[in-house]
Amino acid sequence: MKYKRILLKLSGESLMGDQQFGIEQKAVLHYAEEIRTAVATKAEVAIVIGGGNIFRGIQATANGIDRVQGDYMGMLATIINSMALQASLEKLGIPTRLMSAIEMKEICEPFIRRRAVRHLEKGRVVIFGAGTGNPYFTTDTAASLRAIEIEADVILKGTRVDGIYSADPEKDKKAKRYDTITFDEVYKKGLQVMDLTAFTLCKENKLPIIVFDINKKGNLKRVLQDEKIGTLVKN
Ligand code: GTP
Repeated sequence: MKYKRILLKLSGESLMGDQQFGIEQKAVLHYAEEIRTAVATKAEVAIVIGGGNIFRGIQATANGIDRVQGDYMGMLATIINSMALQASLEKLGIPTRLMSAIEMKEICEPFIRRRAVRHLEKGRVVIFGAGTGNPYFTTDTAASLRAIEIEADVILKGTRVDGIYSADPEKDKKAKRYDTITFDEVYKKGLQVMDLTAFTLCKENKLPIIVFDINKKGNLKRVLQDEKIGTLVKN
């Protein structure tokens, strides 16, 4: 197996499924089933999930909530999603541990890096909630940071598109999908992969990113089996 330890970044928005808001059970179950296939390959799996289906810090500023307050509300939203995912994984019999960047010990463990690594070594899926615990950072940045801290081999960014394109494929018919692209090319071409804070953390720490379509059943396992799906970003 090419990747021994992975950090999977999941979108909170995808949890809405066909709803306008919140968590659709079918969507969480889909994530849990994909994660089960990854666990079955014996890969060590850590997860960061966004919170955009419940609350978006940035948008809240438009409603008169200041940015910092909004960002903390967003961090709490990621905990709700993490708990939903944890419940679904446990229903499938997969051992999990949820660790939060903001202490809430009645609900989950605090994030302690060494402990997170130990959980992974014991085959537990570790979910990192509450982002980095700081405002102004996205959950993509939390994913990059945690991935580096636990020395993951790769970040797998599960999205609704099947990779990185040279232009918006919905607007430009000539847009082509990259199989592989370097960090520098992404900068030069101004392509959207992650926000720049998250992206730069990966580049500087030589942590490859794979962007792939997580909504398609079986794709996570395909990525782990090194099938050429999605786009690999590397140095
Ligand atoms: P090992 O010591 O490696 O076996 O790990 P473990 O997680 O099984 O041990 P521990 O006895 O620390 O945890 C047992 C359960 O309690 C697990 O489900 C943990 O997630 C949970 N747990 C541990 N610490 C905390 C905490 O601070 N708050 C909450 N809410 N749960 C915790």
